[in-house]
Amino acid sequence: MSAVVEEIEEIFQKHGQEHYGEGVSQIEHALQCAFEAKEAGAAEALIAAALLHDIGHLIELEKDDEFGVHRHNRSGAAYLARHFGPEVTEPVRLHVDAKRYLCAVEGDYFGRLSQASVHSLEMQGGPMSEDEAAAFREQPGWEDAVALRRWDDLGKVVGREVPGFAAYRSLLSGLAAA
Ligand SMILES: [Fe+2]
Repeated sequence: MSAVVEEIEEIFQKHGQEHYGEGVSQIEHALQCAFEAKEAGAAEALIAAALLHDIGHLIELEKDDEFGVHRHNRSGAAYLARHFGPEVTEPVRLHVDAKRYLCAVEGDYFGRLSQASVHSLEMQGGPMSEDEAAAFREQPGWEDAVALRRWDDLGKVVGREVPGFAAYRSLLSGLAAA
């Protein structure tokens, strides 16, 4: 197993039991998101992005409040950029904006957000304006970020059994080496 995968696994071991905010832990949420990506037939880089999209929550020591680090997308993407390419880091960086985007373009999306997501949406700037949404669609990887965002919403099922971190070791090693 590569050093970076060991490092990431250690981060999850150390902080993964932390509360995600909706009855599941960080590691349960990460594994459920990765599983959803895999089930959807996503490319390996996007499965990795789904697994690691909230790693910013785990590497930041300073929390804004009980819902975690609102800039976690940027700190997570910056950390991941040391080891992975933009196919992994961009969906991670954009996944918060993807929520603001979906609130702007899908009429019923906001109503389906969890309570914690509604709270963090306010801190993140609220729904995008039409201009912001158009600018968002100019960014490479925006569609992957939107896909990731939908798995993010699904990965909050209390008690759901999904494959563990070990199932992603070789996928992560391969991507980190590339
Ligand atoms: Fe998430």
